[in-house]
Amino acid sequence: VKSPTSYYNEPYRPQYHFTPEANWMNDPNGMVYYEGEYHLFYQYHPFGTKWGPMHWGHAVSKDLVHWEHLPVALEPDEHGFVFSGSAVVDWNNTTGFGTDPKHPPLVAVFTQAKDKQVQSLAYSTDKGRTWKKYEGNPVMPNPPNADWRDPKVFWHEETHQWVMILAAGEKAMIYTSSDLKEWIYASEFGKPNGAPEGIWECPDLFALPVDENPNNKKWVLTVSINNGAVAGGSGMQYFIGDFDGKAFTNNNPADTTLWADYGADFYAGITWSDDPNGKDSRLWLGWMSNWQYANDTPTSTWRSAFSLVRKMGLKTLPEGIRLIQTPVTQLEQLRHPIKSLSDQAVQSNDRAISDVHGDTLEIVAEFQVDPNTTADEFGIQVRKGERNRTIVGYNRHNASLFVDRSQSGTSDFNDGFARRHEAPLTVRNNKVKMHIFVDRSSVEVFGNDGEKVITDQIFPDPSDTGVELYASNGNVKLVSLQIYELNK
Ligand code: FRU
Repeated sequence: VKSPTSYYNEPYRPQYHFTPEANWMNDPNGMVYYEGEYHLFYQYHPFGTKWGPMHWGHAVSKDLVHWEHLPVALEPDEHGFVFSGSAVVDWNNTTGFGTDPKHPPLVAVFTQAKDKQVQSLAYSTDKGRTWKKYEGNPVMPNPPNADWRDPKVFWHEETHQWVMILAAGEKAMIYTSSDLKEWIYASEFGKPNGAPEGIWECPDLFALPVDENPNNKKWVLTVSINNGAVAGGSGMQYFIGDFDGKAFTNNNPADTTLWADYGADFYAGITWSDDPNGKDSRLWLGWMSNWQYANDTPTSTWRSAFSLVRKMGLKTLPEGIRLIQTPVTQLEQLRHPIKSLSDQAVQSNDRAISDVHGDTLEIVAEFQVDPNTTADEFGIQVRKGERNRTIVGYNRHNASLFVDRSQSGTSDFNDGFARRHEAPLTVRNNKVKMHIFVDRSSVEVFGNDGEKVITDQIFPDPSDTGVELYASNGNVKLVSLQIYELNK
């Protein structure tokens, strides 16, 4: 594990979120668990801090918290740039790439982009340390569409075949294969389902138990859209349904739009393949940026970070089956408790935690909302200074959790940046819970045990580190509050 060096101390450099050591990064790619390591690849431009000829950068982790940077895994070649894609363990050596039955090959499936978009393979027989491109590339040479990219591949046990889902403009296309080399068209799923605007990118498809019942599984199709997402620009939606090995059917009316994240900065998320716990839950993370301003954020030596790794589940709520996301518990090893409060009334700008400062904080707060509650809005202000702050709050008038970054710091690189992002959130059992992660240039909020998530970048002055409870036009009861400093 690389120890933090000077580059790690840059003003906006996230301290416990994944960032490339230097230069441009976008989508997470090829996440796969193999022999004790979580692999993470990413869209990478090794020679500049803006998007350019795409490579796959690479890192590994044993705990999803500490990452070791590895050399670039895939470089552009005569078939084009190396765009987004996925990786799998080929347990039965269906590709024949394997050389040792005890250590099956890792196979990456990705888009190559030149004048057209085609799909290619690469494989590794040394725990992902070196990669060879398949000499038969591209394995899918004939695009049916101009946009045809971001293949996500998984083994479908019931039908005993590989399944690929990829993005093709305003829809996702599904293919099947016995050897990852030859692919047969199976079906497609797209608009008018979900959000009306934008083109689809980086889809994923997987089954999850509903309410932790292994006998009741539903399929989840996640997809990134650019533009037209809930907080403007690019963002992620999902669908709940069934999958028979060939086609996905949506269980909700086509015009139901379900957002995976209500902030502006969660994109291109896909899930880990071959995770040992993958039958009960799924792990994923997203790119913490937005194509509206990704190339213009005010960092200099590197650009972009990934969200925290989140565990997904499905839960039956009054409104239907919904995706639940919680930060992985491995993050708790970073905690250093610095403040704890319970049963306290919060009124206007409260001084109760004015002694707390920090730019790497985890805050767990539970508020009671009942007939005695008079505040119309309440919450916690973070990265607070004399002029600026980021507000994490709950608005009782429209029953929404929100992050307000309209006065969070530098925002002049994009007209639409300084805004407030809201997620509808119902008060449950008279409680509103906020689980907040603050890093040097981001805020992630999980509402009511992961029912709703808001992920936003912020670029505050490094000296703005205050934290403050608040309630406006009345009061609210704080049931409990824990604040931790997070240190690697
Ligand atoms: C999504 C995306 C993908 C593409 C990659 C290129 O952010 O546009 O569709 O494969 O980025 O870097």
